[in-house]
Amino acid sequence: MAKPDVLMVGPYPDWEMPVFERDYALYKLWQAADREAFLREVGGKIRAIATSGTLGASAALIDACPKLEIIACFGVGFDAIDLDRARARGVKVTNTPDVLTEDVADMAFALILASWRRIVDGEAFVRAGRWLKGPLPLGKSLSGKTLGILGFGRIGRALARRAPAFGMRVAYCDLAKDAAAEHDFCADPVSLAKACDVLVATTAGGAATRNLVNAPVFDALGPEGLFVNVSRGSVVDEAALIEALEAKRIGGAALDVFWNEPRIDERFLALPNVVLQPHHASGTVETRKAMAQLVRDNLEAHFAGRPLPTPVI
Ligand code: 8YV
Repeated sequence: MAKPDVLMVGPYPDWEMPVFERDYALYKLWQAADREAFLREVGGKIRAIATSGTLGASAALIDACPKLEIIACFGVGFDAIDLDRARARGVKVTNTPDVLTEDVADMAFALILASWRRIVDGEAFVRAGRWLKGPLPLGKSLSGKTLGILGFGRIGRALARRAPAFGMRVAYCDLAKDAAAEHDFCADPVSLAKACDVLVATTAGGAATRNLVNAPVFDALGPEGLFVNVSRGSVVDEAALIEALEAKRIGGAALDVFWNEPRIDERFLALPNVVLQPHHASGTVETRKAMAQLVRDNLEAHFAGRPLPTPVI
C-alpha cells in the first residue's frame, strides 16, 4: 500500500526523521525555497500535517491541502493551529499532553531558582573572576513564599505538587475553583498577583488568554515579585512587562516563551533583572522522544481507522 503523504512544517528531532520517512511520504515545508510554489505542487496530495506547538497550522496552510484529514501537533499547546478552520474542514487535530508536564514544571522551578538564587549571575560572576574581589549579592529564599499559579491545568498542578518540597505555599487562578484542591483560589490574575511572591503563567495560549498578564497584574505583583512564563508569550502584554522591569515595578522575570520567537524584543537582552531561555521547557531527550512517539501514535491510529490517543478535535 502507498505510504500516506504527510507535510512536515518544521524539522522534528534528528532521530525521528528516518522513522517518519520509513512510514510516510514526507514533504518538508521548511526546506522549500518558495513555500507557496511548493504547496501548489504537493498540497493536493497531503493527507496529514505534522507540525509543532510553535509553528502550528494557519488557515492558509490548511486550505492549501484540500485532502487534509489530520493535523498532528508535536506539543501540548495548539494555539498556533487554526482550530476553527480545521473544524470547518472536518480535519482532526491531535497534541501531546501529559508526556511533557513534569519537565515543564521542572523548568518553572529551575527558572525561579535561576532568578532568586542568582544562578545565572553567579555563573558569570565566577567565570569573570569577580569572586576574587568580593561576594555575590544575596539571593532570595523560596521557602516561606507563595507560589502563584496562573492556569491550574496539568502543568499548573505539577507545579503545585513540587511547591511543598520547596517549602512554598500555593495560590492559583483558573476559570473556576477546584473543589478538590486545598490551595487558595484567586478569581482573577490581579488577586493572584497580590497574593503571591512568584507568579508563574502555565495557562494555555490563544485568544482567550491574550495579554492576561498585563500592567495591573505587574503592579499587584510588586517590586519584590517575580514573574515566570512557561506557557506562551501571547499570555503577556510584553510592552507592559518590559516597562515594569525597566522601572523595577516588579522584581524580575524568568521567561521561556516570548511574543516573537526566536526574534525576541531586544530590550530584554539589556535587562539585568530577567533570566531568558529559548522555549525549552519540554527540551529533554526523554520528553521529546515521548512527544514524537505520541505524534506517530496519533497518525498511525488515524490511518488505521482506530480512535486517536490524544485528540484535540
Ligand atoms: C515545544 C510547546 O517546545 O508543547 C508545547 O506546546 O510549546 C513545546 O513543548 C514545541 O511544541 C516543540 O516545538
